[in-house]
Amino acid sequence: NTKGFIFDLDGVIVDTAKYHFLAWKKLANSIDVDFTETQNEQLKGVSRVKSLEKILSWGNKTISEDEFMALMAKKNDDYLSYIDKMGESEILPDVPKILNHLNENNQGVALGSASKNARKILQKVNLISNFQAIVDGNDVSKAKPDPEVFLIGAKALHQKPENCIVFEDSVAGVQAANNANMISIGIGDKTVLSEADYVFKDFTEISIEFIEELIKK
Ligand code: BG6
Ligand code: MG
Repeated sequence: NTKGFIFDLDGVIVDTAKYHFLAWKKLANSIDVDFTETQNEQLKGVSRVKSLEKILSWGNKTISEDEFMALMAKKNDDYLSYIDKMGESEILPDVPKILNHLNENNQGVALGSASKNARKILQKVNLISNFQAIVDGNDVSKAKPDPEVFLIGAKALHQKPENCIVFEDSVAGVQAANNANMISIGIGDKTVLSEADYVFKDFTEISIEFIEELIKK
């Protein structure tokens, strides 16, 4: 039995969600817009362009196209200054255990991320060889909750969507998995990710037995 396991990156494999938060907060505050953790939750899984559009609308700001591009570049430069310092210690607990188990048992393993920095981050934390396919922000035109990113991932793994399992920490990402007709596994808070088929606080709560059940399903 072979299934396709598709992992989101930010907030699932590595704890980069905190760096996105810091970089967006700095940017928002620099243009006199407040930015809270609750607002940040709404940016998880959302593309860079969409995120800035939301921040501007929260602050009732209209800016020129050139300024928009400049702010996006500024946010990414700031974000990359955190990424440059990343190493294997920032892989979230028990992620390698699950990835190794899937690979040793010849399951399909793909990345499905909105980030254009995904490959760079996977290289930084030395996990890139664990993925048969990588679908990231450079490959998609429709942002989560659109299922595009996961459907491309399933195709790359030669799996039907209904035989794929998605790990996601964002509301938009869980919705994307559901829209793709895949099994959605939320990583994080049960109340936030209530639309997911299963929710776990993190991978330490996911047993090998549970993974084996998913494979047999
Ligand atoms: C998602 C993050 O994975 O990628 C979002 O959850 C982020 O916060 C998006 O905005 C795009 O990432 P990047 O690295 O291309 O700016
Ligand atoms: Mg995420």
